[in-house]
Amino acid sequence: MSEAKRLAGEKAIEYVEDGMIVGVGTGSTVAFFIDALGRIRHRIAGAVSSSEQSTARLKQHGIEVLDLNNTGPLSLYVDGADECDPHKRLIKGGGAALTREKIIAEASERFVCIVDPSKQVPVLGRFPLPIEVIPMARSLVAREIVARTGGQPVWRDGVVTDNGNWVLDVHNLAIVDPVGLERELNQIPGVVSVGLFARRPADVVIVGGEPPKVF
Ligand code: 5RP
Repeated sequence: MSEAKRLAGEKAIEYVEDGMIVGVGTGSTVAFFIDALGRIRHRIAGAVSSSEQSTARLKQHGIEVLDLNNTGPLSLYVDGADECDPHKRLIKGGGAALTREKIIAEASERFVCIVDPSKQVPVLGRFPLPIEVIPMARSLVAREIVARTGGQPVWRDGVVTDNGNWVLDVHNLAIVDPVGLERELNQIPGVVSVGLFARRPADVVIVGGEPPKVF
């Protein structure tokens, strides 16, 4: 699968234009994109990063990492996903970076999602849905999730997000209405963000392969 990830990451470079500030996601697929971005670093104005992990890799390549508060809207965001449906709606957060990823996706005109073929599903929910929560609300949010969805939340014990929060992974969801579920879960006090990218899906999906598939 890492070859498919590399092909997807490198294909996404075609969406980078001279002088751009590029929004950069998190994960092993994005790592290939960052490496490719490093090779054209003199053509871009910098990057906005979704995690400490990606920031470190961007800096290793000599790419300037900028604060989203100072850049204004971005033209392009490139990120991976844990699942992708035919409508380009996603589950994200396997790397616990979902909140910053969601912020940058929202701030970007075009969201290019890079995945290997194993991430494609007809209906979202096989991958446990990550939800970032304020630590003191973990049990409350877990109870609410059971009551509202019937899914089984599991605490990702030992993981602290870059924002100092915790993650619940919700198992056994068949997500037939992703926009409705995203809205519903966002209303629970203590939820910081939900790893469903349905209200703001990807604009373009690149599935790594020879040749890559773009839809
Ligand atoms: C991180 C994410 C990643 O995009 C997702 O987990 C996919 O990762 P990978 O490219 O390593 O398969 O959402 O929070």
